[in-house]
Amino acid sequence: MTSKELRQKYLDFFKEKEHAIIPSAPVVPENDPTVLFTTAGMHPLVPFLMGEKHPKGKRLANVQKCVRTVDIDEVGDNRHLTFFEMLGNWSLGDYFKREAIEWSFEFITSEKWLGLDPRRLYVTVFEGDEDAVRDEESIRIWQEQFAKVDIKAEPVGGDKIVTYEKRIVPLKKADNWWGPAGETGPCGPCTEMFYDVSPELGEIKDTFENLVKNFRLMEIWNDVFMEFNKKADGTFSKMAQQNVDTGMGLERTLVVMTGKDNVFDTEFFQPIIRKIEELSGKNYDEEESKVPMRIIADHLKAATFMVADSVVPSNVERGYVLRRLIRRAVRQGKILGIEGAFASKIAEVVIGEYKDAYPELEKEKGEIIEELDQEEVRFRQTLEKGLKKLKEIVKKKEKSSGFAARHRKDFGSKSIDFNNLISGKEAFDLYQTYGFPPEMIREELANFGMGYHKNEFDEEMKKHQDLSRTVSAGMFKGGLADAGESAARLHTATHLLLAALRKVLGEHVSQKGSNITGERLRLDFSHDKKMAPEEILEAEKLVNAAIEKNISVKCEEMTLDEAQKSGALGVFGEKYGDKVKVYSIFDFSKEICGGPHANATGELGKFRISKEEASSAGVRRIKAVLE
Ligand code: SER
Repeated sequence: MTSKELRQKYLDFFKEKEHAIIPSAPVVPENDPTVLFTTAGMHPLVPFLMGEKHPKGKRLANVQKCVRTVDIDEVGDNRHLTFFEMLGNWSLGDYFKREAIEWSFEFITSEKWLGLDPRRLYVTVFEGDEDAVRDEESIRIWQEQFAKVDIKAEPVGGDKIVTYEKRIVPLKKADNWWGPAGETGPCGPCTEMFYDVSPELGEIKDTFENLVKNFRLMEIWNDVFMEFNKKADGTFSKMAQQNVDTGMGLERTLVVMTGKDNVFDTEFFQPIIRKIEELSGKNYDEEESKVPMRIIADHLKAATFMVADSVVPSNVERGYVLRRLIRRAVRQGKILGIEGAFASKIAEVVIGEYKDAYPELEKEKGEIIEELDQEEVRFRQTLEKGLKKLKEIVKKKEKSSGFAARHRKDFGSKSIDFNNLISGKEAFDLYQTYGFPPEMIREELANFGMGYHKNEFDEEMKKHQDLSRTVSAGMFKGGLADAGESAARLHTATHLLLAALRKVLGEHVSQKGSNITGERLRLDFSHDKKMAPEEILEAEKLVNAAIEKNISVKCEEMTLDEAQKSGALGVFGEKYGDKVKVYSIFDFSKEICGGPHANATGELGKFRISKEEASSAGVRRIKAVLE
């Protein structure tokens, strides 16, 4: 089975069960600067899980591209990734536990669909606590499914040992309760499905924890029964509707479908790994190459998708995560001995592999390559400077101790002289100022037969972490509030810009897409030629004139019909429910939109178009900022 077939099978299955198929949202949540990345398919659906009506109905399914960085340090093992695709189906106040579990079982085991062996399927359920009861209902429904194929399935007992007959595992909230995605919002007990990837090891007889830790069981799917809302005070209340939110890992499911035991052996990674082999001249099968190659492949794939959705490397928030991924990958490349810049070469392979499923990669190819190249060059320069600094420190030490620190290449010795350790402070400076990870400082020093004072270094690190935690706790709060306000202002500016473009270029201009980060807006609009410099200036002038007048931004709720009659522009017709919000800025602009917006145009400051370029055939793209 190929990834393409698996995506298609999943969507076909849920189409048969009357689900509407919705597109993947970007990995950066649209117009929501409070969340860094889309970590699950439910993320963009939060308002609908909370009760808002979804225009496509109550049963939805899709394939969502996700970025999750909580497991970044696990990447390199057999199953953790920072970028992955999630197959998901949702009930918005429609079906609940019975259908969700029955369909999961049917899709996994039926010959018509995945045809996996039910004898190798193990499940977990919520064991209950003071917030919600043990999920007896799910246990019963699972037992009925297994009974259909003559498997006796009982919950594990007091000894906690999972066996062939005891394949239902009740677990605590930490394991079997999903959500909310942020601090508050929809969440609930879940039931997870695990597959035995090594049946050749004989009968299963161990604790669930060990079976997962030893990679015997691989999680493939999670059904969440979202009927609770977590409130700001930490308590849970029942929501008006009972939802289902499921997520099946595409990469992991392909692992079990193809009989492999790790995600990197699937078609998602093989072409990328071949390229890394070619660039490094090393072999993936060699033990010391495996982990670095896996990290490079995962991180640069995530980076490619992030840039395609408009993230650029920086020192804050999303940009910082991107920077960290690229730099970690470059560092692993150095370990493999890759000479020269390689990140964008890997990105080209990723684009080639994924462009059919995600056409935005091809569209943003130029930007992806440019950003990756630039970041790699910047990092390599920092590293060069750091190495110079390190050599200075080594020389100084040499003078003061009389120790002849020659490079190992000339020196021939592999042993470290423990009388020759540089101070923890010096090592920490290499870490903080030059971005050297500790293991790299250790290796570079070892090349001179030297080391550093680890305890001192750890102390410095602790001091620094405590400090930065206090700083970032404050910054995070303020930063997010600011980011929210700045997004609202940019959102209002987008409306003004669209109206201005229609005045300058003509009424054929309509919105084709919009994206807002904390710093800039991006508007794609229909127009078939490059804008002349005078036209750009004129549009800017119109927007700034509207800002100067400090006009208040008015919001009214009405039916879609009324909105259209009132002449409001509506760009994504089918995205709306029955009632829509119409934002108007005097007689300048009137648009259907979900908000949020500034209260009055005066809050916007000065508007400047920073870039006008082609987006696709007949569509131009403007990036603009508020200064
Ligand atoms: N939100 C759940 C998860 O991420 C199901 O999709 O596991």
